[in-house]
Amino acid sequence: MAAAFTWVGLWLLSCLALVSMSKAQHAHQFIYNQGFRNANLHVDGSAKILSNGLLQLTNTSRLLIAHAFYPSPINFNASSTSPQSLSFSTNFVFAIVPESEDASGHGAAFVIAESTDFTHADAVQYLGLVHQSTNGNSSNHFFAVEFDTIFSLGTDTIDGNHVGIDLNGVKSNQSISSAYFSNEEGKNISLDLKNGHPIQVWIDYDGQQQLLNVTLAPENSLKPNQPLLSTSINLSVILLDTMYVGFSASTGSIGSCSHYILGWSFNRSGEAQSLEISDLPKLPKNGGRRNTVILISIIAAVLLLLVIMGAAYVYRRKKYEELNEDWENEYGPHRFPYKTLYIATEGFKDKQLLGSGGFGKVYKGTLPYFNEQIAVKKVSHESDQGMKEFVSEIVSMGRLRHKNLVRLLGYCRRKKELLLVYECMENGSLDKFLFSDEKSTLNWFQRFQIIRGVASALLYLHEEGEQVVLHRDIKSSNVLLDSNLNGRLGDFGLARLYDHDSVPQTTRLVGTLGYMDPELTRTGRATKAADVFALGAFLLEVACGRKPFDHHAPPGEISLVDLVKKCFIRGAIVDAVDPRLQGHHVVEEMERVLKLGLLCSNTEPDLRPTIVEVVQYLEGNVSLPDVPVDSRAQSIPSSILENSITSDSVISFSSSIGKGLSLNSSRSTDSVLHIGH
Ligand SMILES: *[C@@H]1O[C@H](CO)[C@@H](O)[C@H](O)[C@H]1NC(C)=O
Ligand SMILES: *[C@@H]1O[C@H](CO)[C@@H](O)[C@H](O)[C@H]1NC(C)=O
Ligand SMILES: *[C@@H]1O[C@H](CO)[C@@H](O)[C@H](O)[C@H]1NC(C)=O
Ligand SMILES: *[C@@H]1O[C@H](CO)[C@@H](O)[C@H](O)[C@H]1NC(C)=O
Ligand SMILES: *[C@@H]1O[C@H](CO)[C@@H](O)[C@H](O)[C@H]1NC(C)=O
Ligand SMILES: *[C@@H]1O[C@H](CO)[C@@H](O)[C@H](O)[C@H]1NC(C)=O
Ligand SMILES: *[C@@H]1O[C@H](CO)[C@@H](O)[C@H](O)[C@H]1NC(C)=O
Ligand SMILES: *[C@@H]1O[C@H](CO)[C@@H](O)[C@H](O)[C@H]1NC(C)=O
Repeated sequence: MAAAFTWVGLWLLSCLALVSMSKAQHAHQFIYNQGFRNANLHVDGSAKILSNGLLQLTNTSRLLIAHAFYPSPINFNASSTSPQSLSFSTNFVFAIVPESEDASGHGAAFVIAESTDFTHADAVQYLGLVHQSTNGNSSNHFFAVEFDTIFSLGTDTIDGNHVGIDLNGVKSNQSISSAYFSNEEGKNISLDLKNGHPIQVWIDYDGQQQLLNVTLAPENSLKPNQPLLSTSINLSVILLDTMYVGFSASTGSIGSCSHYILGWSFNRSGEAQSLEISDLPKLPKNGGRRNTVILISIIAAVLLLLVIMGAAYVYRRKKYEELNEDWENEYGPHRFPYKTLYIATEGFKDKQLLGSGGFGKVYKGTLPYFNEQIAVKKVSHESDQGMKEFVSEIVSMGRLRHKNLVRLLGYCRRKKELLLVYECMENGSLDKFLFSDEKSTLNWFQRFQIIRGVASALLYLHEEGEQVVLHRDIKSSNVLLDSNLNGRLGDFGLARLYDHDSVPQTTRLVGTLGYMDPELTRTGRATKAADVFALGAFLLEVACGRKPFDHHAPPGEISLVDLVKKCFIRGAIVDAVDPRLQGHHVVEEMERVLKLGLLCSNTEPDLRPTIVEVVQYLEGNVSLPDVPVDSRAQSIPSSILENSITSDSVISFSSSIGKGLSLNSSRSTDSVLHIGH
């Protein structure tokens, strides 16, 4: 029984011994590498342990003081004769997070002090360590390494970002601008103490050599090979047998910083273990409530801006939306961005409208940067079918160069819209000069010049290019006048668009009533002869100043060809001449033009001259053949002429020719005839 008690007693004793031993052990070394939650630190002032284990010394409020000490004193055995007993090593990670970019102060310090009582200490430059009256008093018995983020007159000797050694006061015995030695780069790099990021500090004191080393490094960096500060110091005058170790911090009287300690190790019996920063508690995402408010307003403003920009982007996308497919890449130089055309035409404003034809509206514009005048034709197209082929033709037409052709500069595609960009012709279309009182009329010299120009352009299209280009819609409204009143043929090949834009079973023909080869309506095939037929109608309208059909004319004279033919048979062909010329014309040239007009208007395609011959006749190199006297009237069904149509009609024949013509008449300047069968 007694033995048992003895055993229990021994066991209890050994337990007590173990406890006290571990306590003694703890007094010499400790490590907080996962936060301070269970550290039981002695804290005062604004210091507190946040829920994630982070030690917050101060927030950004003004004039705060904070202390945090290891709970039990450290035995330095100062009265021992061995100076080695004063050695210690510590490693900690702190962060100073300013409230705003330019906020500062005041600072924090690692402290070894006789007591944890700093009730009489002041904030601001006194760092919660001393009061003005006690600053430097040797009875204070503390040693501190300060991290001072502001320059204070009287206590500091250098800048507002320094590390200092403080003995019994805040007037540093030694101080140095904050920096660290980069092992990789082999040089000192300055380090902003209040950069808001964790900073590692190693403080090593060798009591034997009386050498104090202070080493700094940013997070994610190993301990530098060279300390920032290595100074000889006799701590035996400061350190007593037992000392408390910890931190002190204070904020300033104006905009300030939060001070944090993330982790800490201390060792009296060797080098303090370095901390693993990734294991340490994280800093709050933002400095404080004020910062949160600022951040939230910034985020809100950014979001609002993004929404506005997004809306603007969507609006612009919509506004400038265009079609662009891979196959168009090769036409790059011929493609105009819709935005450019939009800007050039001031958003396709009505005041930029030059006119509207059978194919669409034409707008005048000025290319940004180049300052070049252009005309943009907006053609609506419903289907994308055949668009690739058409664009390739359009582009190849853009390669056509002739002084009497309006140059096609390029194109742009949008949904249901094709935009063709042409050189701008200053004087607009010829019909305005011929048929309206808007413009002064042209004299014969000018008209003959225009006729010859248009004929040579057609010669170029038919015979001189790499491939035959049929114009298919020659008429005075498609002849434009440049600044010198030279006639230039425009809109060539555009009629092809309607070939592609069709239901497979029907072939749609496009042309303008009165200029359209009657043969075309039967065969549905565009030919060179059909272009010559239209040219004939054009010659007559220029010479006579009248459209091919005039519904106000007396019966029998509605068709211009019929009228000229009548005059010709009478032997007085010049009677048909435009009265506005007031007889001022070269009779021989006039006769030649009128007769040629009749020759070209022959209902029999084979009997019409070719464009080569037309040009020769016009030049007067070759004399004209006899004009066959054929009193047949124009072969446009008289029903069309009577029932319908003003000359301003687009006519669409959807059924086969001769049976139940269905007319679909809509107003536009030109008459375009679509015939399907
Ligand atoms: C800062 O801490 C002090 C003391 O703990 C407190 O009174 C104050 O409200 C805190 N300020 C902010 C902005 O959190
Ligand atoms: C203190 O120093 C004395 C004399 O050097 C030594 O005998 C003693 O063990 C030391 N105590 C501790 C706790 O280090
Ligand atoms: C230092 O402090 C002690 C105790 O507080 C005081 O008696 C002494 O006068 C002070 N010395 C100076 C120079 O202020
Ligand atoms: C630093 O302290 C030493 C004594 O430890 C002293 O001799 C020296 O003058 C002090 N230097 C400054 C700048 O205070
Ligand atoms: C880095 O700074 C320390 C302290 O000022 C100095 O002793 C050391 O020579 C410097 N090292 C280099 C490489 O400049
Ligand atoms: C202090 O730094 C010096 C120079 O780098 C070095 O020689 C010395 O060993 C260091 N002492 C301690 C205690 O770290
Ligand atoms: C350090 O200071 C103590 C107390 O003033 C003194 O006894 C000792 O000789 C000093 N050591 C050195 C190396 O100066
Ligand atoms: C203290 O130093 C000893 C000897 O180097 C080492 O074994 C121990 O891990 C260190 N403790 C801490 C907390 O740094």
